[in-house]
Amino acid sequence: MSINAEEISTLIKKQIENFDSDIEVTDVGTVIEVGDGIARAHGLDNAMAGELLEFSNGVMGLAQNLEESNVGIVILGPFEGIKEGDEVRRTGRIMQVPAGEELLGRVVNPLGQPIDGQGAIETSKTRPIEAQAPGVMDRKSVDEPLQTGLKAIDALVPIGRGQRELIIGDRQTGKTTVAVDTILNQGDQDMICIYVAIGQKESTVRATVETFRKHGALDYTIVVSAGASDPAPLLYLAPYAGVAMGEEFMYNGKHVLVVYDDLSKQAVAYRELSLLLRRPPGREAFPGDVFYLHSRLLERAAKLSDAKGGGSLTALPFVETQAGDISAYIPTNVISITDGQIFLQSDLFFSGVRPAINPGLSVSRVGGSAQIKAMKKVAGTLRLDLASFRELEAFSQFGSDLDKATQAKLNRGQRTVEMLKQGLHKPMVVEKQVAIIYALTRGFLDDIPVEDILRFEEEMNIWIEHNKNDIFTTIRETGNLPDEKEFNEAIESFKNTFLPSNQ
Ligand SMILES: Nc1ncnc2c1ncn2[C@@H]1O[C@H](COP(=O)(O)OP(=O)(O)OP(=O)(O)O)[C@@H](O)[C@H]1O
Ligand SMILES: [Mg+2]
Repeated sequence: MSINAEEISTLIKKQIENFDSDIEVTDVGTVIEVGDGIARAHGLDNAMAGELLEFSNGVMGLAQNLEESNVGIVILGPFEGIKEGDEVRRTGRIMQVPAGEELLGRVVNPLGQPIDGQGAIETSKTRPIEAQAPGVMDRKSVDEPLQTGLKAIDALVPIGRGQRELIIGDRQTGKTTVAVDTILNQGDQDMICIYVAIGQKESTVRATVETFRKHGALDYTIVVSAGASDPAPLLYLAPYAGVAMGEEFMYNGKHVLVVYDDLSKQAVAYRELSLLLRRPPGREAFPGDVFYLHSRLLERAAKLSDAKGGGSLTALPFVETQAGDISAYIPTNVISITDGQIFLQSDLFFSGVRPAINPGLSVSRVGGSAQIKAMKKVAGTLRLDLASFRELEAFSQFGSDLDKATQAKLNRGQRTVEMLKQGLHKPMVVEKQVAIIYALTRGFLDDIPVEDILRFEEEMNIWIEHNKNDIFTTIRETGNLPDEKEFNEAIESFKNTFLPSNQ
């Protein structure tokens, strides 16, 4: 049998011509260094910033530093199983989390996986965790109130839907309680709530979830939790995961409230991550882009224009201060990004003023336009009155001879402080808030002993509900104050039945 050289060479030529490598070498890299939740890989030349990468044992990573010869990767899970020389594959995807109504009532980690032991979550949609904030033309100014149910906030520093209001204070000053009570109050407000717990103890998160469940608030709430024992990348991602889940609802015309408890711990996690990635440290060892870390998150809160469905996403970021120092790096950053702050003070908290809001240092820059008319009318000057009362109080400790007007001011101030106190998990509907603030500002409480104020409030609201409910109905339905003569008469007739404790 003769061998046809010609034939063989054409065959070989053909094969060479059709040779087409399916393996793109740039899509698979090799781990050259791993440790502390960070890996470096060689050979991922086409990786995108923020791309999801997969290690050979199935653990995911996030491409962070794209350098000339290698890629810095944060590992989203246990890193003990990854060794030098392992393969890393590109997925071609930016990180996404599941989104949709199926998440309501569930506790998930920042990757959207359930951690409440209630089984898998079947969502049909996902959303990228990093997304562009709505642009100028897609927005509308904040004009609808978000009722927190806390007198001190709704009256003094009102929050509107789509606003970003910082809650700031030392540890153990009732920060979390403000958020939890606000969420409890949303039951009849057509609001979806997302509570993002960052770096908290698992037991604390558990207690918070139980509070939601007990008050029926879990039905409209998603809890995203990255616990204190989770690796830093998860803490860093948690707020973005929360806001991505919220955006799904906002872009469908719904109203969403997202609470980030708290961003100081997120910043610390990000610092850890950045230092391990060998990014240059700046002030307080935070990386240079720590401002962008928070600004790009909080910019995603918005009130959408009617053309975009009119949905809203309100953000309540938390920042923990050390010894009340609001001029530290992270607090000043976040103060400058948000539309106001609520400052909780430990000495107020320990003296029994709870919620421990300092009215002098708390502001809301857009909320005023989002108060109902009746509230605006009765609470208009309350914040300034309170601030001047504090000044007067300090001053009056020196002298004993006070003129009548000063005495009256002090008298009113003490009652205002007492009236603004509110118990744990007892949010109050806006019409009842208006009623008690009305009674205070019209002087009905001036001769009631300070220690009886809260009892007066409770009994008065019950009395009005039973005898003059149309007052409440008017405020609730029209947003306006009812006929003042009728209102005064109602309070007067109740007051005649009220027994002060000292009699
Ligand atoms: N209005 C209130 N009335 C009574 N007790 C309150 C009130 N607000 C908070 N507390 C209590 O004060 C304690 C601390 O509250 P909370 O956990 O909300 O503070 P925090 O600032 O979030 O604390 P941490 O810094 O540990 O996160 C809790 O035990 C809570 O029950
Ligand atoms: Mg807390």
